[in-house]
Amino acid sequence: MTRHFLLETDFTPNELPELFAMARSFKTHRGNSTPPTLQGQSWGMLFYKSSTRTRISFEVGIHELGGYPVILDVQHTQLGRGESIADTAKIFSGYMHGLVIRCYEHAAIEDFARFATIPVVNALTDFNHPCQVYADCFTLTEAWKAEGDLVSSLKGKKLVFLGDTNCNLAHSWILAAGLFEMEVVLSGPESFAPDPHSVAIADQAGFSGSWSFEPDAAKAVEGADVLYTDTWVSMGMEDEKEARKQIMMPYQVNTQLMAKAKPEAVFLHCLPAYAGLEVSQEVLQGPQSLIWPEAENRLHMQKAILSALAAT
Ligand code: CP
Repeated sequence: MTRHFLLETDFTPNELPELFAMARSFKTHRGNSTPPTLQGQSWGMLFYKSSTRTRISFEVGIHELGGYPVILDVQHTQLGRGESIADTAKIFSGYMHGLVIRCYEHAAIEDFARFATIPVVNALTDFNHPCQVYADCFTLTEAWKAEGDLVSSLKGKKLVFLGDTNCNLAHSWILAAGLFEMEVVLSGPESFAPDPHSVAIADQAGFSGSWSFEPDAAKAVEGADVLYTDTWVSMGMEDEKEARKQIMMPYQVNTQLMAKAKPEAVFLHCLPAYAGLEVSQEVLQGPQSLIWPEAENRLHMQKAILSALAAT
């Protein structure tokens, strides 16, 4: 059966240590001995939405693994003229060995996976962003100087996600909480609490136990190892910017809020960041911020994910 990576839980807890070890090896040995795990393969990259990090890191990653990235978009394929996802997925499967997709509705990527006979990788949907949280977790293992089973260093750590807690990254952390056995607290306005449908998907995956919602930001970050935020205004929501700014300001990650977490706490942001809104410039560029290795690690972790999928 074709294996896809649509949800965080599509890799099992037992598989994670090997996956993370592979990502570390790719990072350590980049440029001298990368195993060509995609040699002779062509992988499609279909992006319905803008991207900097995801698009470039996948394109470079496929190339570094010996594969050929086929850059696709909706406008310049017949998808833009109404050809169905079912037919497109079957056609793509005849030419290529895998497909990386960024799209709006999660149902669209599920449809691609249903009809494709090649692996489909989720490069962000409106529901979740699994490649991002895997790279984030990998970044944390580095920050904590983990050795051996890198994944075990995440166990029991407290991560607080602040701001819009009904966005794709927040959903990803709900799923990741149980998978990585972390304590995840979502903190934002009550009106942006995760919707029951998203929570149900996490429940279905069987990994919903270890997250909670706390509307009081100061209380939420007590004892936290990691503070995480994302833009308050996702792609396509620009007209809500002013209203969101008003209601989300108490959840801005600034030096005062960082000071309420553990002294050694670190800051993550998937980027792009809007300094002065969801995070202050001081925190974003400060010593606790891991944003640059976090962004680079997208490349190493995604190379591991692609290699694992290609091997099955
Ligand atoms: N974090 C992230 O997915 O960045 P891009 O939107 O630039 O790909």
